[in-house]
Amino acid sequence: MISETLLEAEQKFVRSGVIGVGGTCVQAAEATTDELSGRNIENALRQWEAGDAEFPHAAVAAHYQTVGRNGVRPRLVAMLQNFHDNNRAHHVLGAWLPMTFDAQNGDYLSYVGLDYFDQVVRSDDAQRVDAFVAAAAMDLALLEARALGRSAHAPQVVRTRAVTRVVTQLDRLAPDFSLEPSVAAAGLAALAQPGADYGPFASVAAPALNSVPEEIGSAVRLTLLPTTRLHDEQMFIRCIQIFEGLYRQVATAISRSIRDLRDGLAAAAKDRLDRASIRLEAVPALFRVLTTMPVDAFSIIRGFTHGRSAVQSRAFREVEFACAPPESRDFEHVGKIDVGEDTLQDVYLAMRKTHPDAHVLEEAMRRLDRAWVAMKRGHWGITLKVIGTVPGTGGTAGASYLKHAAMTSLFPRLSEVA
Ligand code: HEM
Repeated sequence: MISETLLEAEQKFVRSGVIGVGGTCVQAAEATTDELSGRNIENALRQWEAGDAEFPHAAVAAHYQTVGRNGVRPRLVAMLQNFHDNNRAHHVLGAWLPMTFDAQNGDYLSYVGLDYFDQVVRSDDAQRVDAFVAAAAMDLALLEARALGRSAHAPQVVRTRAVTRVVTQLDRLAPDFSLEPSVAAAGLAALAQPGADYGPFASVAAPALNSVPEEIGSAVRLTLLPTTRLHDEQMFIRCIQIFEGLYRQVATAISRSIRDLRDGLAAAAKDRLDRASIRLEAVPALFRVLTTMPVDAFSIIRGFTHGRSAVQSRAFREVEFACAPPESRDFEHVGKIDVGEDTLQDVYLAMRKTHPDAHVLEEAMRRLDRAWVAMKRGHWGITLKVIGTVPGTGGTAGASYLKHAAMTSLFPRLSEVA
């Protein structure tokens, strides 16, 4: 249950008059009375129930963005839960609906829509995952440019620059997505001038976003269901989704490289690992976006997302387990994940003396390890800056837990054989 104090703190932000970073989201700022009430949505849902209309996904998502999951009228929430509980929804809708009624007891998966993501994006398809990453990044850049258009205060300028830079680095963050070259060029042009006009960038990014496969575009649109009306939470959700895409790509690359190695294909395994490293080496651009999170806004978001933590991320855990289950780590906060019997480290160590390409693979493993550990260190640093040493929303000690995790290598036994 969200406390009165927290609700008041959120209200204060929304009433502050600031739009964008450190203030209210653009959807809440621009909403009409009807959009705020959600009355039309109940009617649209009744029509769907009667078989007279399509399910009003987009309208439901837009309403949630306007009022936050915690501000939706209980009657509407009950209707959506009812559809789910009575199996009125087909499987794709069924994977999305829990996002709409989990405000009191939700977890990380339903916070950012990971079940829906798995159904729609199909997590083992590198091209689709990269399309999702690229679409989420462009959507965020367009949102920040829109907020900048409403209010060009300094933190918003910094945020807009940071997300635009992410879009210009999509060739590294999402190399299996072919981004229309004019998007990165327009992003770089905007970044080159202080006091930039992001209009030309937005006018090429919007059609590029619309050109991703339809189900992926709608997965991006429908999975932005913040718990509050704070603009910064929308940035936070998008960053998590982009990271989830990266973790997923790394997990897939590792499990496939294990298979390649078993088939004697060390060069193919190396290529896969290198592509995963390239993605992770571009992560500092994402961290630059996250560090624009105002401390006071995040303390409210934390309160609304208690119990939801990326410590529950399946893809992140798969990466760590598929490499070398670290005996030294405390896994009490996560379930066991089945990633097959052998770790990449085991398979590599078994072949290193006999395979002529072993050293090439070892370099790729070390590169991946460096990039993964650097990412964990960056995350620890941001955590210290944003929440200090208070416990995490997932029940760990917080920064000290992350510091310890950041010192854990993916392939600890490689140093023994060096
Ligand atoms: C302001 C930004 C952030 C803060 C302050 C923060 C804080 C934390 C804290 C305190 C934990 C420890 C677990 C817990 O008790 O909750 C954690 C874990 C984690 N966070 Fe974040 N986080 C932030 C952003 C992100 C983002 C955007 C992602 C992307 C998915 C992310 C991914 C993770 C992962 C994967 C873990 C588990 C790490 C492990 O078990 O080694 N975090 N975070």
